[in-house]
Amino acid sequence: MAPGDGIQIPSRLPLLLTHEGVLLPGSTVRFSVDSPRNMHLVSQRLLKGTSLRSTIIGVIPNTRDPDHDTDDLPSLHKIGTAGIAVQVVGSNWPKPHYTLLITGLCRFRVSSLLKERPFVLAEVEQLDKMEHYTAPATERATANDGDLGELSYNFYQAAVQLLGMLDMSVPVVAKFRRLLDSLPRETLPDVVASMIRTSNKEKLQLLDALTLEERFKKALPLLSRQIEGLKLLKKTRKSSPNNEKRVLSVRKGGVLPGRQFNRDEEAEDEDGDDTAVLEKKVREAKMPEAAFKVCLKELKRLKKMPQSMPEFALTRNYLDLMVELPWSRSTTDCLDIPAARTVLDNDHYAMDKLKRRVLEYLAVRQLKTSLKGPILCFVGPPGVGKTSVGRSIARTLGREFHRISLGGVCDQSDIRGHRRTYVGSMPGRIINGLKTVAVNNPVFLLDEVDKLGKSLQGDPAAALLEVLDPEQNHSFTDHYLNVAFDLSQVLFIATANTTATIPPALLDRMEVLQVQGYTQEEKVEIAHRHLIPNQLEQHGLTPQQLHLPQDTTRAIISSYTREAGVRSLERKFGAICRAVAVKVAEGHRVIATEAPPAECPAQQTDKAAPPEMPIVIDSVALKDILGLPPFEMEVSERLTLPGVAVGLAWTPLGGEILFVEASRMEGEGQLTLTGQLGDVMKESAHLAISWLRANAKTYQLTNMVGGPDPLEGTDIHLHFPAGAVTKDGPSAGVTIVTCLASLFSGRLVRSDVAMTGEITLRGLVLPVGGIKDKVLAAHRAGVKCVILPQRNKKDLEELPANVRADLDFVPAANLDQVLNAAFDGGFPGTAGAHAQPQLTSKL
Ligand SMILES: Nc1ncnc2c1ncn2[C@@H]1O[C@H](COP(=O)(O)OP(=O)(O)OP(=O)(O)O)[C@@H](O)[C@H]1O
Ligand SMILES: [Mg+2]
Repeated sequence: MAPGDGIQIPSRLPLLLTHEGVLLPGSTVRFSVDSPRNMHLVSQRLLKGTSLRSTIIGVIPNTRDPDHDTDDLPSLHKIGTAGIAVQVVGSNWPKPHYTLLITGLCRFRVSSLLKERPFVLAEVEQLDKMEHYTAPATERATANDGDLGELSYNFYQAAVQLLGMLDMSVPVVAKFRRLLDSLPRETLPDVVASMIRTSNKEKLQLLDALTLEERFKKALPLLSRQIEGLKLLKKTRKSSPNNEKRVLSVRKGGVLPGRQFNRDEEAEDEDGDDTAVLEKKVREAKMPEAAFKVCLKELKRLKKMPQSMPEFALTRNYLDLMVELPWSRSTTDCLDIPAARTVLDNDHYAMDKLKRRVLEYLAVRQLKTSLKGPILCFVGPPGVGKTSVGRSIARTLGREFHRISLGGVCDQSDIRGHRRTYVGSMPGRIINGLKTVAVNNPVFLLDEVDKLGKSLQGDPAAALLEVLDPEQNHSFTDHYLNVAFDLSQVLFIATANTTATIPPALLDRMEVLQVQGYTQEEKVEIAHRHLIPNQLEQHGLTPQQLHLPQDTTRAIISSYTREAGVRSLERKFGAICRAVAVKVAEGHRVIATEAPPAECPAQQTDKAAPPEMPIVIDSVALKDILGLPPFEMEVSERLTLPGVAVGLAWTPLGGEILFVEASRMEGEGQLTLTGQLGDVMKESAHLAISWLRANAKTYQLTNMVGGPDPLEGTDIHLHFPAGAVTKDGPSAGVTIVTCLASLFSGRLVRSDVAMTGEITLRGLVLPVGGIKDKVLAAHRAGVKCVILPQRNKKDLEELPANVRADLDFVPAANLDQVLNAAFDGGFPGTAGAHAQPQLTSKL
């Protein structure tokens, strides 16, 4: 094989009998070998030989090697391809076999068989004279080339055309293009035919074509067919990027199926390509230095890893997340305070204090853009609009909004992510949220922070500490990311129903803004401005189809709902809308109401109304749709016996009125308390009894037989109805005293009075919390007069004006004043018993 001589193949060649696949000169094909003769050829010739010659074998197509060594050899295909085995891989699974990678060199004809066992050896005659392959394909045919020159030039042009239709950015295609120019044109039919989509039969025909002319003639139609096929494909698939990919994948899978040589290289190229794209993205992500370094390190590892390794996918996912994170992408705030005020006012009625504080916050932000927190925390009963105000704030700022619901979260990795060593590890909710909004300055609403749980998996509240601390959160480290992410641009807003269950360290980082429950008047406004229009729209109705007069709204608020917020009110409107939707769908346009109520003047015209008049919901229609009202004004009914008083309680759901009932019977001075009371409340009861016994003479209190000690020969039972609800706190003190005073004196407590306040053994009334919610509850329940501790008088200023106007307030410094106000005409023995008017103030 001297250079210039071309390749001279040995005259004796061992033959590999193949059935599937045809090796053409100039291409590389992978063969799987498992029959006895072929296996022997590999093990005894290829694996034992040491010279280059020993790796040259003859590949005979279209011939099946018999399954047994002893079987006779079938008749061989006469023409074969001599090839170099460039790779031999052995495996024992599922059965012993070798995989050979063979590159074709030239054709040969089998002259005679020399031996059949252990493998076939034959005398062969080389057919292609390789030294003739000289002129590169690009050169124009010369005159003496004649027909052949023309043919080969045409063939070359067609090949160029085919490549022009493929995507040059794919490395394989580009390589093929270069190859095309440097190959001698005699080799083109073989090389091209092995690359384009051809059947084994067609390849076999090409192999059997011994003259060059014949070969070009056979291969050209195949090439043209491929070009036409591609044209058709492009036409049917419009060139969206997605389809571009599909065309490529077709290429990968089929258009160049014979392109088996370099298949490994191709896979590598694809891979390299992918990681190159990733690397480009990493460079473009503008991440901080530390994160960038980590990414480059991971990329390096990724490049070395085989795709099949499970860690490959993990590393890829990690890098994908890293490039997706908004390291330096942010929206510009549109901070316009007057506009913000309008948006807030339009979205939510009332909530003045909250809105004012939010505007202050925004104004400061405008003056100092790099403002470090405070983190606002809205605390209030359910359904008062905490969550939806958070959404409004994002809208006023023109920022992205993301809600992270923390209710029931009890695993700290929910916040901070899992370390990447864990199977199925993920980033935490903060990082996930950032990925979702794709900017680094969104408004994050941490909903329900008071409902964070704790478990063996750690304390999520502790993980939140870092997130919410403006001094620390510029370097928040998620366990999954393991590099710091700057959260200082994120505006955090938290919501909670109560501060009691928020861990103190977390509470300390937030500025608490109380959101009160609404008064009846505010609810009416909210209903007509927001809730009803919303519900109408959700149910596909228009104001022309359904009309809800204000009186109906008032009736719904007072008789069908009892809540601080407006959520169940909204549900009731939903129910009405559904009922009306049925009527509208049935074609009834007007409800003919019996007994048109006076409060609805539109009713007067109803009978003569045209069919497109709205359906008006009056009290009769209301009862039809919502049923009988579940809440009645029960206060006065329940105060018909001595020994009952109305207190005011605060719960996370807002204020509530609370009844205290007492009864006495013959006994030995025992006190029984029922109604699931906490320790503090039980102590209040004991305090109350002690004070009343000590002052029995002053207030003319007697026992059952009229004796001076109320407890003598008497057992007392004190009960707090709604027995299933746990109650605690000192603020029921004054109510217990009033209730017992009523029992011991046999007098009725005023039915329109409710009270709250802690007591001392000396008879002083101490201030309590939640005055605003309590007073609103009293107002909702129709109470007229509220007795409250003197030192809580300042809290009344925060109440809406109409509530203050509706109620009488009695600020009491001691129990004397409480008793005096709680009973009609004062209480015997109190300082103001006969002094009229009473010590009340109308604020
Ligand atoms: N002042 C208001 N003006 C207009 N709509 C309001 C107002 N307050 C509440 N809403 C409406 O009431 C509904 C309930 O509000 P939201 O879900 O924000 O309550 P929340 O305070 O977050 O309650 P929870 O504590 O149960 O999460 C929403 O549809 C909201 O639009
Ligand atoms: Mg909420």
